[in-house]
Amino acid sequence: MEYKLSELHKRALKEGWAVPHFNFSSLSQLNGVLDALKEMRAPAALGTSEGERDFIGLKQAVYLIKSFREAEGVPVFLNADHSRSFETAKNAFDAGYDSIHIDLSREKYEDNIENTKMVVDYVKSNLGSEYVEVEGELGYLATESSKIYKEVVEIPEDSYTNPQQAKEFVERTGVDRFAPAIGNLHGIAANKPKIRFDLVEKLRELLPDITLVLHGGSGISDEDMRKLVKMGFNNIHISTELRVAYTNALRKELAAKPDELAPYHYMDEAREAVKNKVVEKIMLFNAANRV
Ligand code: G3H
Ligand code: ZN
Repeated sequence: MEYKLSELHKRALKEGWAVPHFNFSSLSQLNGVLDALKEMRAPAALGTSEGERDFIGLKQAVYLIKSFREAEGVPVFLNADHSRSFETAKNAFDAGYDSIHIDLSREKYEDNIENTKMVVDYVKSNLGSEYVEVEGELGYLATESSKIYKEVVEIPEDSYTNPQQAKEFVERTGVDRFAPAIGNLHGIAANKPKIRFDLVEKLRELLPDITLVLHGGSGISDEDMRKLVKMGFNNIHISTELRVAYTNALRKELAAKPDELAPYHYMDEAREAVKNKVVEKIMLFNAANRV
């Protein structure tokens, strides 16, 4: 059976689960994710940020994901996560990405709308684009990249998404998915994120059909996460927690096997650690046995 990402998102919204989105930058990380997806019969979006895709290569990422989808029958889709310009979004689309996230959330409102719409128009005017979703973002996440913050992170008042503006943003740009800022953070802070559930409720009320994307899934408590899925986040991003699991396991294994030189002999634990973390998230997002 051939799956489409847009249909999976629609189904997830209707049935009360979330399509997971996992970032990767190495083959062994990706293998760990895929081991879990196969075992749990879950679909997923696999994301590469600009840094991750520079490291892997655009075409290489496209063929990797395509090969897993076609040869192994796992419904995985490649997302150009946090593309910061029309140019990088266009390059990913041209290379064959299945999904484009254009993130101009740090720009002025009108510039964000204008350039996000440019990406939507470019994608939708190209052949075969009915399979390619575009995601836009309004309101910004206070922390930049996937890391562990030793300090407490305060969320600036002006960073939260304004629900009325969000509705206008979605209508004017024509995006398929919308990523808001509702107290979520990239990376893991010393404090647990304080989610503004009032904003989530309002957003879902004003935008009943759109795919709502939760960025910064690492560090959110299980209880809050279950509530967010129930309230209608049907696509959830996890990166930092996978990186922590992978890197810690790899460091441990390298230390335990100082004479081992074959990567496939010292990367098993790292792959397994990623797999276990992904299984945990699939259960949390209620995404098992969906394909
Ligand atoms: O786009 C990537 C995600 O938003 C990852 O966030 O590193 O906090 O899990 P995270
Ligand atoms: Zn993100």
